[in-house]
Amino acid sequence: MPLSRCRLDVGVMLKTILLLGHTGKLGSALYGSLSSDYLVIGKNSRDFDAANFDQVTWLVDELRPDIIINTVAFMGIDACELDPERAQLINTLLPGHLAKLAAKLGITLVHFSTDAVFNDDKKDYYTENDIPSPLNMYGITKHGGECLVRSRCRQHYIFRVPLLFGECSKKSQFVEKMLEFLYAGQKNIRVSSDLVSSPTYTFDLADNITQMLLNETPFGTYHLANEGKVSLFELMAEIVALLKIEATVEKASYMDFPFIGTKNTFTPMKSIKTAGLRPWQKAVEDYCRRLTGDAKNG
Ligand SMILES: NC(=O)c1ccc[n+]([C@@H]2O[C@H](COP(=O)([O-])OP(=O)(O)OC[C@H]3O[C@@H](n4cnc5c(N)ncnc54)[C@H](OP(=O)(O)O)[C@@H]3O)[C@@H](O)[C@H]2O)c1
Repeated sequence: MPLSRCRLDVGVMLKTILLLGHTGKLGSALYGSLSSDYLVIGKNSRDFDAANFDQVTWLVDELRPDIIINTVAFMGIDACELDPERAQLINTLLPGHLAKLAAKLGITLVHFSTDAVFNDDKKDYYTENDIPSPLNMYGITKHGGECLVRSRCRQHYIFRVPLLFGECSKKSQFVEKMLEFLYAGQKNIRVSSDLVSSPTYTFDLADNITQMLLNETPFGTYHLANEGKVSLFELMAEIVALLKIEATVEKASYMDFPFIGTKNTFTPMKSIKTAGLRPWQKAVEDYCRRLTGDAKNG
């Protein structure tokens, strides 16, 4: 449906958001949360190739949204080590290109970064005051994206987020992948107890970001995470217990599994600029409740 038509149908001039990556883990939660207050146009790899900047320019020029939200990323520590050029293209140059377009057209740009921009030295929560010092290509290229967004587009939000969990059709990331193994009948999973983060529910993030946009929160860089810190082992043990899955979660070290990049092992985060999200345990309870609800319905 043409954009002008949608505006007429709803009767009020809803602000339009171009949501790049609306089928991803965070993008799908954002799509649901933003849709009651904005006209959200979602685009994914079926609609355009984020590595082709002519296509990106065309998309933005054609739609002229009020806000661009970019959730597209080249993820995975190992994948980025193996293909640093692609990592730089998608994680650094794409947000840089979006920032240039957004600044030229007066569009607000929302971009996502990661706890992997930090090293492990702090041994405490990372806040917005901490200076990035990434350990691997993923973190380096995401930090590069942050720098270009900041330097090229004044009207920006950079939301740094940690390990995410949440309902999503793709099961390729950590929590959902572990659950897929268990749902497929595996009776035991081994999980690193020496990787500590502030795992965060995509639904909480999406609702918080919607409110920040609606409230016209000052532009800038923000840490968004559920409160608290926990190891991946403790996180999965909690989820498996809440879902009442008959399987054991066994403590392991990240060094027991093959990897090539330098891993971040301790990057809990919190904000000193906004009220934090609820504690991770409460978010996990909701996540499991929704999963079992979905399981019963489906
Ligand atoms: N997930 C985490 O644990 C985590 C942790 C820290 C930071 N982050 C950051 O949070 C943001 C969102 O991550 P996510 O986990 O939601 O990502 P995701 O699940 O991998 O979703 C990525 C989205 O981007 C689209 N996309 C990927 N490559 C594309 C391309 N070449 N052209 C067009 N579209 C493309 C995908 O479309 P298709 O569905 O068509 O493939 C999908 O909709 C990223 O900036 C990431 O760095 C995530």
